[in-house]
Order: sequence, then C-alpha cells, then structure tokens
Amino acid sequence: MNSITQARCESTRPEAGEIKVFTFSVQSSCKKLLNELQPGRHVAIRYPNTSDVSQQRLYSVIGKPEEDIFEIAIKKSGGGGVSDHIHEALMEGSTVTLDYVAGDIQLESIGNLDRLGMIAGGIGITLPIALLRGITEKARIGHRVPKTTLVLCVPKVADIPFLHELLGLDLTSTWFTLRIFVTQDSIQACNRFNPGRPTIDSLYFMGEPQAIVICGSHSFVQAFREHTSSLFPFAKLLIESFTSPKPQYLQKDRSDDQSIRLYIDDNSGEVIETLSGRSLLEILESSNTSVRSQCKAGICGKCRVRISGGECRFEPDFCLSKKDKDDGYALACCTFPISGNISVGLRATT
Ligand code: FES
Repeated sequence: MNSITQARCESTRPEAGEIKVFTFSVQSSCKKLLNELQPGRHVAIRYPNTSDVSQQRLYSVIGKPEEDIFEIAIKKSGGGGVSDHIHEALMEGSTVTLDYVAGDIQLESIGNLDRLGMIAGGIGITLPIALLRGITEKARIGHRVPKTTLVLCVPKVADIPFLHELLGLDLTSTWFTLRIFVTQDSIQACNRFNPGRPTIDSLYFMGEPQAIVICGSHSFVQAFREHTSSLFPFAKLLIESFTSPKPQYLQKDRSDDQSIRLYIDDNSGEVIETLSGRSLLEILESSNTSVRSQCKAGICGKCRVRISGGECRFEPDFCLSKKDKDDGYALACCTFPISGNISVGLRATT
C-alpha cells in the first residue's frame, strides 16, 4: 500500500465498553488496496498519540458497506496511545493515514466449515463481529454456513459491545449460539448470561468445532489457547491478539532492572546498551535498528530473530515451533532481555 493513503472519517458512533465505531472512506481508487480491505483483516492506521508522537496501530475491519467504505471499532484504553487520541480528536471530516492491510482470518478461512467456535475478550469481539456479519450474509442468500458458537467475556454487563446485534442474531438464526460471561458484576446465571470466567468444562457446549477463533489480550488468548487445545485437540486455532505480551517477572518486582548489552548481528557491528524491562522489539525500535514487525503480539512471525548468550525471558507466542525455539529462534516482540551480553541475529528468516 502507498504509505500516504488517507482515509476520511465519515461518521462515529458510541458502542458499549468505551468503544466507538468509526466509518472511513478511503481516499484512493487503488483497486488492490480496496480489495485488500475486507472484513476480518486488520488495517494499520498511523495517527499521533496524545503526546503528538506519530504511531501505528492495527484495527480489525468490522464492516465494508461499500467498495471504498470501511468500519473499525476502537476501545479507549486510558494510556494516552493512538486509540485514546482517536477517541478524543477524530471527528467527521478528519483524516488518518493507512499504512497497510494484513491478517489472514477472513470469511474464506471459516465459511465452509460445519462447526465453528469463537472466543472473544472485550474489544476482541471485533474479529468475530466481522465474521458473523459475513456468515449472516451467506445465510441470507441461502448458502450453507457453519453452526457457530460465540463465547464473549466482559467485565461488566454495561461493557457488552454489540449486544443488540448479537442478541438479535441469536434470537433469529438457527446457526448461531451466544454465551456471555460477565467476570466482575455479580449476576445470576440465566440462558445466555453467566457469571465469572468460562471454565474448561463450560466450553463443552461448543460441540466439536473444526476451528476456533480466539481474540483478545495476549494473556486472554494464551489462556484460551491452552484450554481449547486440551479440550478440542483436532480444532484449528485461529488466533488474534491486540496487545503485546508483558514481562511477568517485572510485574512482580520492578527493582529487577539490570544492564544488558545487545550485539546486533547484521554486519553493522552495532552494540546497544540498555536496561531490562522492555521487549527486544521495543529496544530495537527505540534504537532505530531496522527490524520487521507487524502484530507485536507473537502471531505474525515478522519479528523473528535468533538469540544467543545472556539471559532472556520468552513470553508465550502463537507462531514458533518447539524446534524453532530449540534452534535459538525467538520473536523480538515476545522476548524480554534480562541481563548479560546477548547476540541478536536479525537475518532469521523463515
Ligand atoms: S511482530 Fe508479529 S510476531 Fe512479533
């Protein structure tokens, strides 16, 4: 995609859970780009954060009502990032820059299955919403669609996004089943609503799904990957996460910061001296070291590197095999250097 492709905000509307839905028109007639922008894929938007530093964030396309019109849903995080600034500042007529479109989970990935499961945490609902709208359209024109179950986890009843749309679909379709789990409000279990987080046993109602789409924060996705792969070992897992992993050891004790020396193995001879506490990807990017990345969540594999020496913590990823890891490969976005002299090979292509 041309890096200066602009999209104009056509409208905004509030959703539950501090989410806003934005409708954009693409200011380009590039057919390739318009074809790439499909529901379920994510679009990389460049926009300043609240400190006016230009940054890039990925958002799932939840709808495409016309060839050059698309919708995304953005949750306010409170951290002063791009999403917060878009919430504050973006209004009808404002523009954002589109950097690229990526992502492999679309209707084509799941539309021909017999049985499909979806598990979403909070704003992780955006990908399931995109897929459900596509399945609904297929069903409307008489095509066979998968029996689909959605497990949606939210902290509070008032935070349930797209509730009206989801309930309407559950009430009117024969192929869709909705289960909502409310983790913080005290509610009575009834029909579609359940208190607490889903246990492994509570996922049995999904039947025998051939594929399960799991979307949410890195820790949410990691937990449900484990649950579902033990419960449904033959199901294909389609994973999307919108947050980067956090270094668990630092959450316990921030006084652990130690000095690190990174030797960059790319013929530049670059040596980076830093402290523990950030991911390898964050360290490399802040040093202006050229490194590929996309999802920043351990899914796409673009930031694959080779690591040796020193001490690192490797947070779970959704991409590398055991053999990859045994051979010294790692994902920079999931690797947290802790101490010592660490060699970083940046030419670790797949
Ligand atoms: S940026 Fe996608 S796996 Fe690291």
